[in-house]
Amino acid sequence: MRLSGVLACLLVMCADICRGDTPANCTYEDLLGTWMFQVSEGGHDKDINCSAAATSENTMAVTLEKLSVAKDEVGNLGFFTLVYNQGFEVVINGYKWFAFFKYTEDGGQVTSYCDRTLPGWVHDVLGNNWACFVGKKVEPVAPQLDYKPVTSTRFISKHHSQNNMLLQRMFTPNQDVIEAINLVQDSWRAVSYPEYKTYSLRELHSRAGGPASRIPVRGGPRPAPPHVAKLAAALPQHWDWRNVSGANFVSPVRNQASCGSCYSFASMGMLEARIRIQTNNTHTPILSPQQVVSCSEYSQGCDGGFPYLMGKYVQDFGIVDESCFPYVGKKTPCGALQKCGRTYVAEYSYVGGFYGGCSEAAMMLELVQKGPMAVSFEVYPDFMHYKEGIYHHTGVDDPFNPFELTNHAVLLVGYGRCHMTGQNYWLVKNSWGGDWGERGYFRIRRGSDECSIESIAVAATPIPGL
Ligand SMILES: *[C@@H]1O[C@H](CO)[C@@H](O)[C@H](O)[C@H]1NC(C)=O
Ligand SMILES: *[C@@H]1O[C@H](CO)[C@@H](O)[C@H](O)[C@H]1NC(C)=O
Ligand SMILES: *[C@@H]1O[C@H](CO)[C@@H](O)[C@H](O)[C@H]1NC(C)=O
Ligand SMILES: *[C@@H]1O[C@H](CO)[C@@H](O)[C@H](O)[C@H]1NC(C)=O
Repeated sequence: MRLSGVLACLLVMCADICRGDTPANCTYEDLLGTWMFQVSEGGHDKDINCSAAATSENTMAVTLEKLSVAKDEVGNLGFFTLVYNQGFEVVINGYKWFAFFKYTEDGGQVTSYCDRTLPGWVHDVLGNNWACFVGKKVEPVAPQLDYKPVTSTRFISKHHSQNNMLLQRMFTPNQDVIEAINLVQDSWRAVSYPEYKTYSLRELHSRAGGPASRIPVRGGPRPAPPHVAKLAAALPQHWDWRNVSGANFVSPVRNQASCGSCYSFASMGMLEARIRIQTNNTHTPILSPQQVVSCSEYSQGCDGGFPYLMGKYVQDFGIVDESCFPYVGKKTPCGALQKCGRTYVAEYSYVGGFYGGCSEAAMMLELVQKGPMAVSFEVYPDFMHYKEGIYHHTGVDDPFNPFELTNHAVLLVGYGRCHMTGQNYWLVKNSWGGDWGERGYFRIRRGSDECSIESIAVAATPIPGL
């Protein structure tokens, strides 16, 4: 469209100022090779503070190989996965290791070191014995590769105040954009949401996941392994967890407001729905997204996070009910939650087995067999105006409301096929309130990895209370 140049220009300016997640940007290839983990003294519990722990002389070497196989020095085998572009988790010999990749920020320059980590956490799979560790890659898998840190320079000092002011600006309703979206296609309909006028551009970015957390483009949908494709082909044509033989297993739509906590709402929504399914609706807890925002060191509060690490957080620390720690939509002190019961997670994983292994068929199978799952997708400015229909990105930009592509986490609850057009779609629960979209939900094209929605699905299995 005519305005894409304007947006492209603003993207560059926006980069560092309204960032979500950590600035690390590392790949699967960076991870492959032999790592040395330097471990602090063990014997701690989960309250250990890994920013403050001293490292000891204890080390452990682990080789990470294709596709998801970790191997130690004596040949024991385990598992590993990249966590988006942010860090990695290794499970081997009864221990789980997780750390974010190291990065430094110096003025406008962010350097991500994909061959070492920030202090991370290691504990046995039962969560009893905790220590901290720092990882350093000592040998790449292919010796000819050059593992220099990835350096991205962002010129924030020059544009900082100007751009900051730009993002403080309130959203400006623009009817031309709505009309343009509705003119170029008839698969979905855009409207102007009056409440956007109450948000600044920065707040709208946060709601959509926060910029800088962009999904690496995979170049189209990924085929499923043959046995998965075969099982998926035998599934019903339509599925909707809000109505399975008349029963609804999905908890009510919520509103994250202006905090970048979508990852927490998507994860809590998954656990809430799965508990309903596991107990045939006899247990219907609403869990606390605020606990994650305020307490989790595996995420960045109102600046973003990832559902995979929420599965890990709830396994390691448990999650209280909403009534124990109600949502306020900003980062507040963690507070004393000892009095409240907690829900835990038995296991969590990327759908497809590891980050990068996702496919439409694997998602359909997981959905019907186990329940709703957290998915992420790229939010373009046109998506903000979605009202109904089957969404796909139109390319229509908004010159008055510059918007950077963001990575938004939501809850997949169903799929289907439009009788009239034959279009396949996913049915997705958003966390922007019940007045947004189709009563808080949206549908989006299925089978073509639209906005990367088939690239990063996460499943977790809650343990319902007694
Ligand atoms: C952990 O230690 C760091 C560095 O000493 C300190 O700044 C931080 O406040 C501590 N965090 C907690 C939760 O105690
Ligand atoms: C991360 O790096 C890839 C190339 O390795 C690049 O295409 C992408 O834009 C980068 N993402 C961010 C958020 O910097
Ligand atoms: C649930 O689905 C059935 C069968 O498609 C339909 O007859 C029924 O009206 C639906 N119930 C609700 C509450 O939407
Ligand atoms: C699940 O709950 C519904 C509604 O109360 C009931 O009709 C059904 O029999 C229950 N299913 C099982 C397996 O108990």
